[in-house]
Amino acid sequence: MESEEIKFIRNKIREHHNWFDSSLPMIASENVSSPLTREATASDLSHRYAEGDPGKRFYEGCKYLDEIELKTQELAVEVFGSETADVRPISGVLANYAAFDALADYGDTVMSLSVPSGGHISHSKFSAAGLMGFDIHEIPFDDDNLNIDSEEMCEMIKELEPELIILGASVIPFPHPVKEAREVADETGTRIMYDAAHVLGLIAGNRFQDPVADGVDAVTASTHKTFPGPQGGIILHKNQFDKDIRRAVFPGTTSNHHLHHMAGLGITLAEMKEFGEDYANQIIKNAKKLGKELYKQGCDVLGREKGYTKSHQLLVDVSENGGGATVAKKLENANIIANKNILPWDDVNNTEEPSGIRLGVQELTRIGMKETDMSVVAELMSRIIVEGEKPEKVKEDVEEFSGKFNEVHYCYDGRLGAYEFSELQR
Ligand SMILES: Cc1ncc(COP(=O)(O)O)c(C=O)c1O
Repeated sequence: MESEEIKFIRNKIREHHNWFDSSLPMIASENVSSPLTREATASDLSHRYAEGDPGKRFYEGCKYLDEIELKTQELAVEVFGSETADVRPISGVLANYAAFDALADYGDTVMSLSVPSGGHISHSKFSAAGLMGFDIHEIPFDDDNLNIDSEEMCEMIKELEPELIILGASVIPFPHPVKEAREVADETGTRIMYDAAHVLGLIAGNRFQDPVADGVDAVTASTHKTFPGPQGGIILHKNQFDKDIRRAVFPGTTSNHHLHHMAGLGITLAEMKEFGEDYANQIIKNAKKLGKELYKQGCDVLGREKGYTKSHQLLVDVSENGGGATVAKKLENANIIANKNILPWDDVNNTEEPSGIRLGVQELTRIGMKETDMSVVAELMSRIIVEGEKPEKVKEDVEEFSGKFNEVHYCYDGRLGAYEFSELQR
């Protein structure tokens, strides 16, 4: 017999599932994993400990876990072409913290993007970079081009000679000038880290930029945004940093890594080898199409001169439509799930009512949407943003439309439940 509390929580999970099944999920940092990946995350691995390195664990019982970890690491190196990889970080922020510790020293001079320019909080004084006591200088940003001002960045590297520069971002519609940074950084002895949390899946599909090939010292990332794995982190780095990175991951920032998620990461990497290119291609086509259609409908989509985006993301200035918080809430009431977002010209402290919203199409693509569907999504959104229609009315149409998409694509068998609760679940 279930207790009332258990019934309550199980019901809330059901309600959450039903809501998302009848919604348009457009948070740029989320995704859905494949049934094969979910099978791994529901396995007995979720109960186990494997502190340390394969073959050198602190507990017994790890012989199969060791083999899974080595295979996952091998797949990461194959997919991303890095010299080596650490697949143990349990989140993107912890991957960043470990990489900061390995690539720089406490109090070092560091260049990173401000939050309004798209930088993640972990690149700022509020989070991991702050905990490292870094002396943080903002990378110059070109608001019109929605990208780093490459020339000014290079000047600043020359002048400041920082120990570390952090590229990659939470808002990254266009590839960052990695090659340019590398050239100057070689002169100044600056190390480069690229935070690919948002674009890891596009990189896996060879459809964005290739920071490893462009010579960064370490790529860090979450494994669950455009890369559709279980929640976790990863570091792809040069051999020369391996000892320091592995130590910073364990025992530095994690004791036991999450073995079920690591196995799921391995399976997702194997699926991305097969389907990653098609997936990334479709994400970018969908994002561009959505940008164009939203603009046609009267939304102030940024980056029009540059084709709106080259990633999964779009930024829309909704300051004339009620502001970011108001618009995001109205969209949510119509089952369109997106987030308010600070724009480059907003005050960094104005997180409550910023001017923009950020949209991501990676999950809509994952559930099978193509460019024609983006026209429908744009129309549903603009009925709220531009025409001011009641969200409850639009919600009915959203439910009907989203109900047509109930399989995961770009994986081996995307029928929901195809492998869950299989013989691997314990
Ligand atoms: C650029 C960037 N780095 C790191 C993170 C943090 O990742 P996680 O939530 O996995 O810790 C995010 C989260 O959205 C991000 O956008």
